[in-house]
Amino acid sequence: MSEKYGVVFVLGGPGAGKGTQCVRIEKEFGFLHLSAGDLLREERQKKDSKIGNEIEMHIRNGTIVPVEITCSLLHRAMKESSNQNFLIDGFPRNKDNLDGWNREMSALTEIKRVLFFNCSDSVCIQRCLNRGKTSGRSDDNEESLKKRINTYRESTLPVIEHYCNLELVSEIQADKTQEDVWAEVKGIFEKICS
Ligand code: C5P
Ligand code: MG
Repeated sequence: MSEKYGVVFVLGGPGAGKGTQCVRIEKEFGFLHLSAGDLLREERQKKDSKIGNEIEMHIRNGTIVPVEITCSLLHRAMKESSNQNFLIDGFPRNKDNLDGWNREMSALTEIKRVLFFNCSDSVCIQRCLNRGKTSGRSDDNEESLKKRINTYRESTLPVIEHYCNLELVSEIQADKTQEDVWAEVKGIFEKICS
């Protein structure tokens, strides 16, 4: 078998800056950025998708799509690329995601690091509401955001805790400006790649 895929998971609340920083990481360090949310939104748009409605329901409610769907989208994107290293943004978001990943993907991948973008709720909400003015996203509104933050607290923080116990987490103070956050992220990634 060929070498395992290298994976860095990127976690944090809605609006913590995961996607923004992932774009910069991809450019500078060559890890391919795969956003679980983007893959789900793309799948939802497909005309012949039988699961489009189910995905939209979860996105609007800020709840988490069953792992069988999300993991297979991620795995397909990994296989279709010629990359060996991936930044997986917004996954695993809950215990179902984590268990499903471990079942399906642990033999194929090595988790190199988990980046945790730690950001206050007020900054997260403000950023998402600003983004909502132009993003067209059905979940960048106050009602969905409350639910997304709840899901993050109840379901995602325990996953981060799990990886903390495995000493895999690098925590980033994500309340700062994009440039200041980048300085921190870059330093962490230089170590990952050394
Ligand atoms: O990460 P992002 O903010 O783009 O995620 C948007 C929504 O996509 C989440 O609130 C959730 O409904 C869905 N999602 C999911 N499972 C993931 C990632 C995202 O269900 N692992
Ligand atoms: Mg994102």
